[in-house]
Amino acid sequence: MDRITLAKLRKLKAQQEKIVALTVYDASFAHLLEQSGVEVLLVGDSLGMVIQGHPTTLPVTLEHMIYHTQAVYRGTQQALLVVDMPFMTYATPKQALRNAARLMREGQAQVVKLEGGEWLAPTIELLTARGIPVCAHLGLLPQSIHQLGGYYVQGRQPAQAQRLQAEAHCLQEAGATLLVLECVPSPLAAAITQSLSIPVIGIGAGPQCDGQILVLYDLLGLTPGKSPSFSKDFLKAARPDSSRLQHAIATYVEDVKNQHFPDLEHSFTS
Ligand code: KIV
Repeated sequence: MDRITLAKLRKLKAQQEKIVALTVYDASFAHLLEQSGVEVLLVGDSLGMVIQGHPTTLPVTLEHMIYHTQAVYRGTQQALLVVDMPFMTYATPKQALRNAARLMREGQAQVVKLEGGEWLAPTIELLTARGIPVCAHLGLLPQSIHQLGGYYVQGRQPAQAQRLQAEAHCLQEAGATLLVLECVPSPLAAAITQSLSIPVIGIGAGPQCDGQILVLYDLLGLTPGKSPSFSKDFLKAARPDSSRLQHAIATYVEDVKNQHFPDLEHSFTS
């Protein structure tokens, strides 16, 4: 197996070389990202929002995750494949074990990601004892959006910051091998990153995490509505006039409207 391993990510952390991660949901993009040097591909349950068009990640099912993970796996050869366990598929350790095994067996996931704090410690202990690597996810937890009341920065109050620190250590102790920190103030993310031995991947968590992740569609400027303030439209930045992807789609629309497409070359004439 030539895929990037967790040991390689630990080495990158030790060498203070940043880890590059992105979400992805299909084979073609997965191939492109891998070819571009993205080391960690997360099949995120953000697919519920950017692929399925839901306002939250909650409607995503295990079957959806398996389907998209299979596609991403087929499009890649090297990247480390991390897969989100969707809402209510890991409410108990036993349920988590059964469903994580399906993501690995049917989807070829290498690591499963779970959102939550201390309550997940027994689950992480069980999964890792059974050979299933776990990426923990702290800070803004999109699966708890109704409890949180909105997509807000987490850990701004000292008590909340202390709790996040403690939870990060608790999950590392339980056996988590990676941590995603979402939407937390940069100094707190830096402190957590420095105090943990496992690699920390940030999203909206400032520059001092061991690595960074974005939702692919935010990076491409494709997410409808307002993009999170922490994400950046790299495609626009790369081609200020018009991005290649957007240009291609706009030209298609124009050519169909103007009846320039399909032309003879792109038609079956007999
Ligand atoms: O589902 C997802 O895309 C995620 C990222 C925001 C890290 O969990």
